[in-house]
Amino acid sequence: MQFSGFRSRLRRFNAKYTEKRRTSVPDSPQTIENGLYINRVSSEYSIFNLENNAGLQQTDTSLNNEHTKNKTVEMKNLLEILKNLDVKQPDPQDIKNALAQIDLSQLSYEDHIKGYDLDKYNKIKLMEEPFQVFIMTWPPQFLLPIHQHRNFWGYVVPLQGIVAETLYGFAPRKKKIFLHPTKTFKPGEVIYEPYNVIHKLQNTSPLEPTISVHIYYPPSYNYSGTMIFDAQNRRMAVLNEKAELLSWDLPSDHYESITEDAYDVEKLW
Ligand SMILES: [Fe+2]
Repeated sequence: MQFSGFRSRLRRFNAKYTEKRRTSVPDSPQTIENGLYINRVSSEYSIFNLENNAGLQQTDTSLNNEHTKNKTVEMKNLLEILKNLDVKQPDPQDIKNALAQIDLSQLSYEDHIKGYDLDKYNKIKLMEEPFQVFIMTWPPQFLLPIHQHRNFWGYVVPLQGIVAETLYGFAPRKKKIFLHPTKTFKPGEVIYEPYNVIHKLQNTSPLEPTISVHIYYPPSYNYSGTMIFDAQNRRMAVLNEKAELLSWDLPSDHYESITEDAYDVEKLW
C-alpha cells in the first residue's frame, strides 16, 4: 500500500500526542502572546515543549481520521493551474479565480509531507516561479509574530487542522493597535493576505498539527520595512533587508528599529 508507512508513522504520532495530552495542558493565552515564546518558536524552527503542565484527559481521534482520509485532488493540479496563469502582473483576483477551479477541501498533500516531523515547524517548497508556493506544518499552538505584509500578498489554505487569523489595525498617530475578533479557518477555506494587512496566524489546537499550503506573490521578496508587533508588551519593530524571518529573535542589525511602549491595544468588540 502506498500510504502504509505513512499511516503507521501517523499512528505513532497520534499515540505520542495522546500520551502528551495526558500530562499536559496548553499554555495560557498570556504565555502565547509573550514575545519570548514567539521568539523561541520562530527562531529555532522547532516546537516548544509543553512539559510541566498537567490536565487534559480528553481523547481525540480526529488527527488520525483527518490524515487517513483520501484527498482526491492532486496538488500538482493546483500547481499546474498557477504555472499556466497567463498574466504578466498577477493580481489577487487571478489567484482567487485559480483557487475557485478546484475543490480545495480535497487537495492531497500526503506525499509532500512524508519524512517530515509534524512535531516541528516545516516549510516545504513546492514552486518558486511564478509564485512562491509551499506547504507549512504547524505544531499545536504554533504561531508567527503579528506581522505586516509590506512586500508581498498571498493566500493560505488549510489542508488539515485549523488556522486562526487575528487581524490588527495600526493607527501610528493615535499610537493604537485595534484588535479584531479572531476567525478560524478549516480545510477548503481560504485566507487572503493582502498587501499591508497586519495579522497573526496560529494553529490554536493544543492537540493537533495544522498543515497548510501558501501561495505568495512576488515569488521572492524581503522583509525590508516590515513591521512586527508584540501586542502584550506593546512593542513594535521594523525589519530591514537582512531579516529572513518574521521574528523578535533576530540579530540586532536585522532591525531598522525597535520601539517600546509603541501603542495601546484596543479591542473592537
Ligand atoms: Fe501573513
